[in-house]
Amino acid sequence: MSVLPIVPVGNPILRQPTRSVSESELASLEVQHLIDDMVETMRTADGAGIAANQVGSNLRIAIAEVRDNSRYPYKPPIPLTIFVNPVVTPVDDELVEINEGCLSVPDLRGNLNRHVHIRVQYLDRNGNRHDEVKRGLTAGTFQHECDHLDGKLFIDRVTDPTTFTTWDQFDQHHRAAFVTRITEFVDRIGS
Ligand code: NI
Repeated sequence: MSVLPIVPVGNPILRQPTRSVSESELASLEVQHLIDDMVETMRTADGAGIAANQVGSNLRIAIAEVRDNSRYPYKPPIPLTIFVNPVVTPVDDELVEINEGCLSVPDLRGNLNRHVHIRVQYLDRNGNRHDEVKRGLTAGTFQHECDHLDGKLFIDRVTDPTTFTTWDQFDQHHRAAFVTRITEFVDRIGS
């Protein structure tokens, strides 16, 4: 496994929708190696997820994992999940304002709304079909990664640009209030 360079904002590949992966392609060594490298890259960067176009591939593959994450210590755990050709559908109209960052947008965070309950249909790396409901911040992580696969970044969804902060300024001025609010939300919604 190798750690791949992460493509930063401004590179056109982040703005291009990715393409579906066929089942035979998914089984190929090349794609299986790409998935291994994405896992290694995400873990090394301490990300909660990463999408294939963030490492220069145009395939519709993303991954997510949250264990003890120093970038997002308030996020509930997510077991390592590889999602291929994902389709996200909101389950209802409930939204939550959360604060996000992105490995492709260095040193910037901002507030945006995400659906609280989503249905996500995808293939895992072995080609098995999954149809699951995700809630809360976990649903937010899946929406963030699927946005990448559609050529969208979290910065596109920030409705109030005055919420943009560097990570250091977030820690100094905004983290405490955000963590209090979002912890109450996580306790209510679960994940
Ligand atoms: Ni991202």
